[in-house]
Amino acid sequence: MPEPFGVAVVGCGNISNQYLKNLTAFPDVRVLFCADIDAERAKAQAAAYGVPAAGSVEQALEHPDVQLVVNLTIPAAHAEVASAAIAAGRHVWNEKPLAPDVAAGRALLEQARAAGLRVGCAPDTMLGAGIQSARRLIASGAIGTPLSALILFQGQGPESWHPDPEFLFARGAGPLFDMGPYYLSALATLFGPAARVAAIGRKARGTRVIGSGPRAGTEFSVEMPSYVSALAEYDGGQAASLLFSWDSPLHRAGFLEITGTEATLAMPDPNRFDGDLRVRRADEREWTVIGSAGAAAGRGSGVVDMVRAIRRGRPHRASGEMALHVLELMTAIDRSGRTAAFEPVESGFEVPAALAEDWDPYVADV
Ligand SMILES: NC(=O)c1ccc[n+]([C@@H]2O[C@H](COP(=O)([O-])OP(=O)(O)OC[C@H]3O[C@@H](n4cnc5c(N)ncnc54)[C@H](O)[C@@H]3O)[C@@H](O)[C@H]2O)c1
Repeated sequence: MPEPFGVAVVGCGNISNQYLKNLTAFPDVRVLFCADIDAERAKAQAAAYGVPAAGSVEQALEHPDVQLVVNLTIPAAHAEVASAAIAAGRHVWNEKPLAPDVAAGRALLEQARAAGLRVGCAPDTMLGAGIQSARRLIASGAIGTPLSALILFQGQGPESWHPDPEFLFARGAGPLFDMGPYYLSALATLFGPAARVAAIGRKARGTRVIGSGPRAGTEFSVEMPSYVSALAEYDGGQAASLLFSWDSPLHRAGFLEITGTEATLAMPDPNRFDGDLRVRRADEREWTVIGSAGAAAGRGSGVVDMVRAIRRGRPHRASGEMALHVLELMTAIDRSGRTAAFEPVESGFEVPAALAEDWDPYVADV
């Protein structure tokens, strides 16, 4: 059996709990180091999850056995931390979005390519049982030829529960860039690359107030549109209607429907790894519920697929190229909100191969 792949987790905030819980349980990886600009946070997370060492990003990159950096910093730091890791000869898994802008994302992939290293990027929810089962169902012909998609994500915004929510309303975020990757990556695995988009962007309030944690009551400014609705056309001719809003008293998440020539498929929540599928044909008055099958191990699954892919010399599924395309698509949506014109999306990517139903990150790949 090969030695587990050495991993450093950089950025020990909110989401690091899910990653550390899983990555310390997956046999193909071993978390060797926790790093953060806040050294105390890194130490606390290392202690909580039994990681042997903690410290600064520089120290993580000097660790001789770290082969891959899992970058869970805030979006504004994603490209800088990833670039430093590649410069130090490490593969990188980034939280989403890949980079603050398309140029930085492209430069990152180019840097990695030149160095012979891999870039993977969240979300990896599309590797979960829910989306994978939907892919299998569509491939079986159950809804006919897929024609269109409807995505609805709306609510009041994360400042009520996130103790440090400013970054979620800053450049590179907003509901489109924060939540869009889950929905648009899931759709990307079904429809392939997008070709052009048109959108409207709005902002109901110029400032918001932190609702929880030690800084509750602090006001901060909203830099990105907090309401985005868009139309997207895909290279394969499919169309999609999209809504991403933090300006809505009504909470509705996980709404992703695919309509085909024979039936509509209500997908499981693309921000989850599990969930049922629901199918409705033209002659039916009720949904038929179909349970999903496969692993729903959670965040870090994409890191395991990437490690296995590096070892076996095959492409990894949650690729930097797909993440760059989704970033370009979201950037084009954002731009269209200002130009009031259809905006082209030029980048492409290889649609990742579907996972086998028995794929399991908890069982070592030998
Ligand atoms: N919180 C969630 O539910 C959630 C879910 C999915 C994905 N994400 C994504 O995960 C990432 C992190 O989100 P979060 O909620 O954990 O944020 P957070 O603010 O709780 O944590 C980010 C951590 O990164 C550290 N950091 C910032 N810049 C750094 C740098 N240059 N070098 C080293 N450390 C640095 C911060 O000190 C902090 O500890 C974001 O990209 C976010 O979009 C978050």
